[in-house]
Amino acid sequence: MSAEIIDGKAFAEAFRGRLAVQVAAFAAAAKRAPGLAVVLVGEDPASAVYVRSKGKATRAAGMESFEHRLPATVAQDELLALVDRLNADPAVDGILVQLPLPGHIDERVVITRIDPDKDVDGFHPVNAGRLATGLEGFVPCTPLGCLMLLKDRLGDLAGLDAVVIGRSNIVGKPMAQLLLGESCTVTIAHSKTRDLSSVVRRADIVVAAVGRPRMIKGEWIKPGATVIDVGINRTEDGLVGDVDFAGAASVAGAITPVPGGVGPMTIAVLLRNTLVSAHRRAS
Ligand code: GUN
Repeated sequence: MSAEIIDGKAFAEAFRGRLAVQVAAFAAAAKRAPGLAVVLVGEDPASAVYVRSKGKATRAAGMESFEHRLPATVAQDELLALVDRLNADPAVDGILVQLPLPGHIDERVVITRIDPDKDVDGFHPVNAGRLATGLEGFVPCTPLGCLMLLKDRLGDLAGLDAVVIGRSNIVGKPMAQLLLGESCTVTIAHSKTRDLSSVVRRADIVVAAVGRPRMIKGEWIKPGATVIDVGINRTEDGLVGDVDFAGAASVAGAITPVPGGVGPMTIAVLLRNTLVSAHRRAS
C-alpha cells in the first residue's frame, strides 16, 4: 500500500472540538445556545441510528437538540404543520428532516416547506440555486465535508481534474458545484457514462458517490490521485465503500477509508451549518 489514509474521523473530532469553543462563545454573547431540530418519521433502523448520533453530537457541541419522532403513518399535512412550527420557533436555527420519508409523503414538498435560512441540510432548491450561482447559503453536509478533506490535503485545487461519480442532489451535484467553485475541471459521471475507467483515469481527484460496493477499481485510478469514497454499503464483508479500497490504495496518493473517512465529516458539517445559521439569524 502506498496511499496516505485520510483520517476523516480524527479530522472531524478536531473540527468538532474547535466548533464547541465557538458555540460556547456564541451562547455567552447571545444568551442562548444554537438549536438544531431533527425530525424522524417512522422506524427505519439506519435512520434511527443517524438521528441518535446527530442528537448526541449536537449536545456534545453545546447546542440544543430538539428531536421530533412521528409514526410512519403520519399524514403529510401533519408533518408540514410541524415544519411550519419549527420555521417559526426562534430557538430553532437549523431544521433537518431525516430522509428517506415513507412512500405516501412527497419529499420534495417537505424539503421546500423548510425555511431556506434554517435548511442546514442545504437540500432546499433555493440553497441549491445559491450554491450554483455563488451566493451565500447552506451547502449539503457530506460534499462540504469532502471538500474540507480535499483542501486539507491538497491546498489549492485550481486547475485540477476532478471526477464525481454520482449525480444525486444530496452528494454528486453539490460536490461538482463545490469543485467548480474551487476552479477544478469537473466531470460528472453516472450509470450511463461510457468507458468510466478512462474518465476516472484522467482525474487528480476522484469522488465516488454511487452506492455500489467496490465499483471503482484500483486499475482505473491515476497514480498519485486523491480518492474520496462517499459510499457506505452494507455487504456480507461488513461496511464497504464504492471504491475497491485495497486496489486503489496501492496506486492513489491518498484515500479515505470506509468507515472512518467521509462519514464522520457529515455530522461535523451539520453542526457547523447550525452554528453559521445561529450567527446569521442573530445579526
Ligand atoms: N439521510 C441520509 N443522509 C441524510 C442527510 O444528510 N440528511 C438527511 N436529512 N437525511 C439523510
